[in-house]
Amino acid sequence: MGLALQPLSIGNIELKNRLLLAPSGTGTGDGDGHITEDTLRWFEQRSKGFAIAVTEHAAVDALGVYHKNMITAADGSCIPGFSRLAGVLHQNGCRCLLQLDHGGGWDLQALRGCLDLEKNPDGHSPADELDDCVLDGIVESFGKAARRAEQAGYDGVQIKGCHVFLLGMLFSPLTNHRQAGRYSGQTFEGRSRMILETMRCIRASVGKDFIVSARIAVQDYFPGGSTVEEAARLAQELELAGADLIDLSGGVKYYYSNPYSTAPGYFGESAGWIRSTLKKPVVLTGGVSSLEQADILLQEGKGDIIGICRAVREKETWLQEALEKQQGI
Ligand SMILES: Cc1cc2nc3c(=O)[nH]c(=O)nc-3n(C[C@H](O)[C@H](O)[C@H](O)COP(=O)(O)O)c2cc1C
Repeated sequence: MGLALQPLSIGNIELKNRLLLAPSGTGTGDGDGHITEDTLRWFEQRSKGFAIAVTEHAAVDALGVYHKNMITAADGSCIPGFSRLAGVLHQNGCRCLLQLDHGGGWDLQALRGCLDLEKNPDGHSPADELDDCVLDGIVESFGKAARRAEQAGYDGVQIKGCHVFLLGMLFSPLTNHRQAGRYSGQTFEGRSRMILETMRCIRASVGKDFIVSARIAVQDYFPGGSTVEEAARLAQELELAGADLIDLSGGVKYYYSNPYSTAPGYFGESAGWIRSTLKKPVVLTGGVSSLEQADILLQEGKGDIIGICRAVREKETWLQEALEKQQGI
């Protein structure tokens, strides 16, 4: 049996294998940000065979919503829907983490506009606009949302600290131009503060066996952007702040892609090095489309768990078919 199908523990939680259904916006929320029957159906087949799923970005408060059908964890009315979704995933033997996110008061189109450094050369972003006290309040919102996920029966949460959204933008020097204050873009401490404070706040709000993960960028792959050394330092500090699982993706400019590679596990080189500096398990996602590729990446030490999004997004029975093929059925 390849490494991908061997069990692994995160804290006291045992995973049946090392395959993770990576977060993927489904656009199935109702206008109020609640889970719908379509959301449940989206996960029904796709989660089969995976040890763990990170369900799509959910806004932690009303200001954090950045598209019309976005799911939210902004108040207690979300709990019954999340409870049903956790039920579907658990029924399939799949542990689940709720990804928590914030758009900083901007909509998706405006957020994506920040990526176009030709049209937006100064990288102006929501990370530049919000007062320190507003950011402090958003940290608290993450803590409350995590508590709601726990009440709904999720196994954990994931802080979204990368891509074009608020926490990722505060971390990247390309999009955080704050000159002073607690979240200043002028220092590593200022840029990393929001992600670290959020980790501490969530850890203090939930039980000790509840998994808390952070998804961060391995680097920005852009001059003047965040570096792999900074990502390793951030991951180490997240571990000290209570993270159980570090999930590695891309930065603000190229989102979840690597501009230099489309090979399976295209963040693997950076991820393997970051992993070598950590104690907690690491998720590597990007470009994986077969179990054989996942096995090789795990053997090479590029991650402890392999995340898969597009392969299973495009074909909902992708993993079930791959498992049957491997078992010669
Ligand atoms: C349509 C779509 C929606 C996505 N939504 C999310 C999301 O909600 N949160 C997140 O962190 N990443 C999101 N991603 C990124 C994926 O989790 C993953 O990192 C990326 O697709 C690369 O992995 P893959 O090559 O297996 O698809 C999304 C990707 C796609 C294609």
